[in-house]
Amino acid sequence: MPAAKGIGQGCGGWARPAAGKLAAMIVVVAGVSGSGKSTVGALLAGRLGWPFTDADALHPAANIAKMRAGHPLSDADRRPWLAAVAARMDEYAAAGESAVLACSALKRSYREELLAGRRGARMVFLHASRDMLEARLRARHGHFFPAALLDSQFADLESPQPPEHILVLESTLPPDQAVDEIIGRLHLSPSQEKMSP
Ligand SMILES: Nc1ncnc2c1ncn2[C@@H]1O[C@H](COP(=O)(O)OP(=O)(O)O)[C@@H](O)[C@H]1O
Ligand SMILES: [Mg+2]
Repeated sequence: MPAAKGIGQGCGGWARPAAGKLAAMIVVVAGVSGSGKSTVGALLAGRLGWPFTDADALHPAANIAKMRAGHPLSDADRRPWLAAVAARMDEYAAAGESAVLACSALKRSYREELLAGRRGARMVFLHASRDMLEARLRARHGHFFPAALLDSQFADLESPQPPEHILVLESTLPPDQAVDEIIGRLHLSPSQEKMSP
């Protein structure tokens, strides 16, 4: 049976945490710039009462300057940034605090770096077409990411494929519906807040 429109497929299901054994859950919302990861991530965090970190805020100043100047980031540029994102995930987990992060995680190696060995970590990838993204980005003001950099984002993008265990959703879903989907598919609940790691 085909998937409902706008609802992507993960590979396999996500285990429902056993009652009494809930650990902190760290949900990373990923996708290219303009896919809606900050919007959906913040909304998801608000709905669950969990803290939210936007990985944009974890870039070294040199990366932000480079993006502002219209230059794409290299793997080497992204290394300290990914390490900072992973460190933030570990801080939440160590505090037993469930949380949501928004992070583009364009390449499979980046996603593996964030997910490998982190039992409570889950990733949602917002899939988007280039045309839709360009229109959205041009309408967005006051953000450091110029629309021309979309080309480099798509050049770097490695869309999640099995066996990666990632929930893929269409970014055309209204944010509220995307949040409903994420909560339902990943079995999230506010009660996962402040559990022991
Ligand atoms: N599901 C959606 N439907 C329509 N517009 C959206 C949706 N999600 C985000 N937007 C809009 O698209 C733009 C980019 O969203 P944003 O969350 O900043 O993306 P990202 O963090 O992935 O770069 C914003 O103007 C936002 O309001
Ligand atoms: Mg963002």
